[in-house]
Order: sequence, then structure tokens, then C-alpha cells
Amino acid sequence: MSTDFHRIRRLPPYVFEEVNKIKARLRAEGTDIIDFGMGNPDMPTPQHIVDKLIETARDPKAGRYSASKGVPGLRKAMANYYGRRFGVKLNPDTEVIATLGSKEGFANLAQALTGPGDVIICPNPAYPIHAFGFIMAGGIIRHVPALSPEEYLSNISRAVKHSVPPPSVLILSYPSNPTAQWVDLDFYKDAVALAKKHDLLVISDVAYGEIYFDNNPPPSILQVDGAKDIAVEVNSLSKTYAMAGWRVGMVVGNARICAALARVKSYLDYGAYTPVQVAAATALNGPQDCVDEIRGIYKSRRDTLIKSMKAAGWDIPNPPASMFAWAKIPEAYREAGSMLFSRLLIEEAGVAVAPGIGFGEYGEGYVRIGLVENEHRIRQAARNVKKFIANADSILAKAHNKMEQA
Ligand SMILES: Cc1ncc(COP(=O)(O)O)c(C=O)c1O
Repeated sequence: MSTDFHRIRRLPPYVFEEVNKIKARLRAEGTDIIDFGMGNPDMPTPQHIVDKLIETARDPKAGRYSASKGVPGLRKAMANYYGRRFGVKLNPDTEVIATLGSKEGFANLAQALTGPGDVIICPNPAYPIHAFGFIMAGGIIRHVPALSPEEYLSNISRAVKHSVPPPSVLILSYPSNPTAQWVDLDFYKDAVALAKKHDLLVISDVAYGEIYFDNNPPPSILQVDGAKDIAVEVNSLSKTYAMAGWRVGMVVGNARICAALARVKSYLDYGAYTPVQVAAATALNGPQDCVDEIRGIYKSRRDTLIKSMKAAGWDIPNPPASMFAWAKIPEAYREAGSMLFSRLLIEEAGVAVAPGIGFGEYGEGYVRIGLVENEHRIRQAARNVKKFIANADSILAKAHNKMEQA
């Protein structure tokens, strides 16, 4: 008999744990690891946002419980952002919920919308909470291959046709983690039409909506006429303002879905610490040159990564958006698969990446590289990778010997 609880049996240990353990061991031994493994922003939160937090924290009332769906000033700032950036009008009282990071918002949306056995259409590869948020809520995932947005969209009708009961929710997430791909408004028009045809609600996660390059600002699904009838968007301040640890996100759009999320959250939390919410409103309402600066840092890192890795013998597609590059395993290591490749890369070259298999079965053969180290260290990583590729035969032979002996 399994000793694990019902829900725990449905949550496999994080695949990234294996690489993380090796990383921790090597670091404890004094090895310098160049860490592209996690999407954790490494730049400081802009000073004026931190100052607002400190100023608000001095208010003797600041430590009280806050509002579970967010204080009105923050929801208004979120609605104004949508008006300014996308030309989308939102009612801050009924169409905006502030969440404890977008991950919490996504997971509680899944709780709010899902009954046992409900079928959810999810891209694969995907950010893990997109599938596991619904699995925790008792749903069943229909994984649809999504190595490109076109591949995903073209397979949705087939997935609907072959799912019993018919699916109830469609997940979208562009710019994508992990594939770093971007979509235009026509994609969302097609997705909304498809969702309406098949009676699907849509959750679109745009956590990387402000991290784009080459002047391609990603659109919002809510710009599509009638999208609000069926869709909500999940958004985040984590990457836009380098505020990942602050835990501020939002769910916006369809009022019925927002009300369902607000109901679930009202049982679970009292909202973020009020000064965090006030400072988040300052981030959204205040000067936006800090966002340009953050975007510029990721762009320079992207350019350095693609150029230096190409020189090292690893040809990686130029990501148009997000804080990641999504790379096929170099030819010399392709048979190893993404897990062994990532293990060897960290052990032999001191470079950590996320194995593609951690994002789902269709992620096998790839790794995700986070743009979370400075350019000097990116160039150093490329020099290490060059040697790692040149010595592939001996490194793989040694690894296979070790596995045979184990
Ligand atoms: C696609 C996607 N959505 C959501 C999140 C979570 O962001 P937050 O910090 O707002 O919870 C991430 C974080 O890496 C992500 O990649």
C-alpha cells in the first residue's frame, strides 16, 4: 500500500530537484556554478517602489489584515495599467482581483473552476502549475503538444473531440515559459473563436507580458472583442518590476470567473501585507523607465547568450520574449536526453540549466536557459560549454561507465 496521501501521489517530486541537489552539493564543495536554472530575477526592485513600502510600513495600522481580493487602490492601478497598455477597460470592483503572486492566483482559479474529473486542455511543455494546479483541484489534464503556438492551436479541436467529458478550460501562456515564444493578436482572435465554438473558458497567463525584445510588445487576449465573455488573464509584477519575492499578481477579465476566485480566496487569505499592495500600486502608477531598464538588461543578456553560445558550437534560437532561451540539446549530447545532459553540464562545466522534461514529455530533447546571470558570467559559461561539447565523447563514455557500475 502506498504511504502517500491521495493528492501527494498525483504530485511527482519536482524534476528540477535532481539538478538542484547536484548544484547544492557542488556549491558546498566550493565549485562556482553559473546558474541559468531558475527564472528568478536577479536585479534589485526599483528604489521608488522599495521606498513606498518602507513609508507605508511606518503607518501603525499597516500590520492589520488587508483585503483578500486586494485594496481598492491596487485594483484601480491594475485596471489603469490595462487601459494604458492594451486599451482594455476593466471595472476594478468586478473584473480585477489582486493575488499573492500569479501562481497563487492561477492555482486558486483552478480550485474555483474545477470539479473532480473535469478535463482541462493544457499546453505541453508548460510551466508546471498550469497542469498541476488543476490536478490538485481534482481535474484531468489533456496534454496538447505545444512546441510552437501554431502546433498548440491546431491540435485543440482534436483534443476536444477526443475528450470525454468535453473539456471545460483552455490554458494559454504567451510569452511562453519554457519555449520563450510570443503570439500576436490574431492568435488570440483564433483562440477566442475556438474556445467559444467548443464552450471553453480560457485562462491566459501573461507573466512575461512586459519582457519582450525587438519592439514586439505582446498583446492581451482581452483586446479581442468578446474575449471577456469567456476569458481571464493572469498577470504578475514579479518579472516586470523585479518583484518576484513580493508576491503580487492579478487575475483580470470575466466578472463571473473573478467573483468565483474572490469567493475561494475569501476563505483562504486576507490579501498581501498592505504596504506591499500600496508599493505595488506605486509600481504600476509611477514612472515606467525602470521597466524599460529591466527589459534592456534581459535583451543584452539574450544577445550575449545567443552570440557566445553560437561561437561555442551551440546554436540557440533567438527568443523574442520572456527571460528564457529554449535550446535543443547540442548534437553531440542529443542521445543523452535532457536530464542526463543537464546533470553532466553542471558536473563537468559548472553550468546549470533546467531540463526540458521537467516541463512535460514534449519538452524532452530541450533545455531552458534563464537570463539570470550577468553578461560576463554568460560569456564564461559559453567558454565552459565549448570545452564540454569538444569533450562530449569522453564525458559520455565516463557517464555510461559510471551508470553501468551503479
Ligand atoms: C508562466 C509563468 N506564470 C507564472 C509564474 C509565477 O509568477 P509569480 O511570481 O507571479 O507567482 C511564472 C514564474 O516563473 C511563470 O513562468
